[in-house]
Order: sequence, then C-alpha cells, then structure tokens
Amino acid sequence: MEKKLAKIIAYAQERLSEEQSGHGFDHACRVAKLAEKIMADLNDPSVDSLVVIAAAYLHDTIDDKVVDDPDEAVEELRNFLTFEKIPTTQVLEILFIIDNLSFSKEQFGAASELTINGQIVQDADRLEALGAIGIMRTAYFGGAHGNVLYDPTIPPRNLQTKAEYREESTVINHFYEKLFLIVDQMKTPFGKQEAQRRKTFMEEFLKEFYREWND
Ligand code: ADP
Ligand code: NI
Repeated sequence: MEKKLAKIIAYAQERLSEEQSGHGFDHACRVAKLAEKIMADLNDPSVDSLVVIAAAYLHDTIDDKVVDDPDEAVEELRNFLTFEKIPTTQVLEILFIIDNLSFSKEQFGAASELTINGQIVQDADRLEALGAIGIMRTAYFGGAHGNVLYDPTIPPRNLQTKAEYREESTVINHFYEKLFLIVDQMKTPFGKQEAQRRKTFMEEFLKEFYREWND
C-alpha cells in the first residue's frame, strides 16, 4: 500500500508539474491532507483509504483545464494504475470518482452519485476552493486566464450551462457564480462545518475589498 501510494504521488507530481492556474501538485497534496482529516472525522470502516488518497492526488491529472486531451489522459492513468497492480475494482472507482467530482458536472452535467469515498475527495477538493487559499487560487486562475479582478458594471451571472461557466467573468464574480454555491453542496459533516467557516472569512474579505474599492 505505501509503495503503491508513493508511485501514485510521483505520477501526480510529474503530471501536474507544469500547471500554473491553481491545480498544481501543491493543490493535490492539500486535497489529500483534507481527505485524511475528513476520513478521521467520519471514522467509517467502509471507507477505502487507498481509493480516497489516490483519487485526491490524481483528480486533476485528467481535467480539461490541465491537459490538452482528457480522454488520452484517462487512458494513460488507467494503464498506469493497472501496471502498478492496483486491483481493477479500485482502478474503476478511482476513475469514476475523478470523472464525477467536478462542480461543473454536478451543476450542469449528468454527474453520477458519488460513493462515500468520492464524497470525501469531492469535499476535500471543494474546501480548497474556499477560504484564504480559495481566494488566492481564484485570483491566480483569473490572472492565468487574463480576467480582470473586478468590474462593478459586470454583474454575476446565474449560470445554466458548462459552456457559460467556461466563458469566464471577473475574479470577484467567481465567488458568487461558484464558490458560495458549493458551500451548500458539501456532503460530509467535517466538509459542511469547515466550508461554513471558510465562507465567513470570504464574506469578511469581500466587505474589506468593496470598502477599499469604493473609498
Ligand atoms: P470544477 O472542475 O470543479 O468544475 P474548476 O476546476 O473549474 O471547478 O475550479 C477549480 C478552481 O479553479 C476554482 O475553485 C477557482 O479557484 C478556479 N477557477 C475556476 N474557474 C474560475 C474562474 N472563471 N475565475 C476564477 N477562478 C476560477
Ligand atoms: Ni482540484
């Protein structure tokens, strides 16, 4: 288990090394750490920690924001996990989780319901979108994509499709178009509580931001 995990971590590190929009290896490591916390809090013997930690490290290695060809990335990941002798049922669950994890798929697509293992990874990934780190990642992503920080003449949208979601707006609008929405979509007790705490901090941040902007 330890040896297999070390190989998985090295794979994630290699695949995410070029990433510069907030989905890099440091993000994958924090998602894995948060997933550990959620597991400890849940204390549910049916949880498969190898599946959870592997999916946490690997979740962005097949994302269309990170790789040019997501289908090819899935095949490469499947081959890698099989080569490392991860049992097929676990390979299938890891691939299922990372395919159905995303906000955009849950909100606009036909995401399949996640198993408890998947819910843990999803909550861990979503906590990373919130709080001080969430604010930094959102600004970092916006910079990488050439979006402005804020424009009071552009109101936040009520997004209906993934295409609209990918047509990006301002950094501040992303708080309303996604970040605050996921707080109510958390699935685990630790995730719900920590998301609320991080949201409170973001609301404080926005108050200060508008105050400075308007002064
Ligand atoms: P998902 O894959 O779950 O649908 P994303 O990967 O698009 O969600 O978002 C992950 C993180 O990337 C967000 O939490 C945010 O920090 C950043 N991000 C995504 N889209 C935008 C955007 N339009 N503006 C600013 N940040 C964004
Ligand atoms: Ni992520």
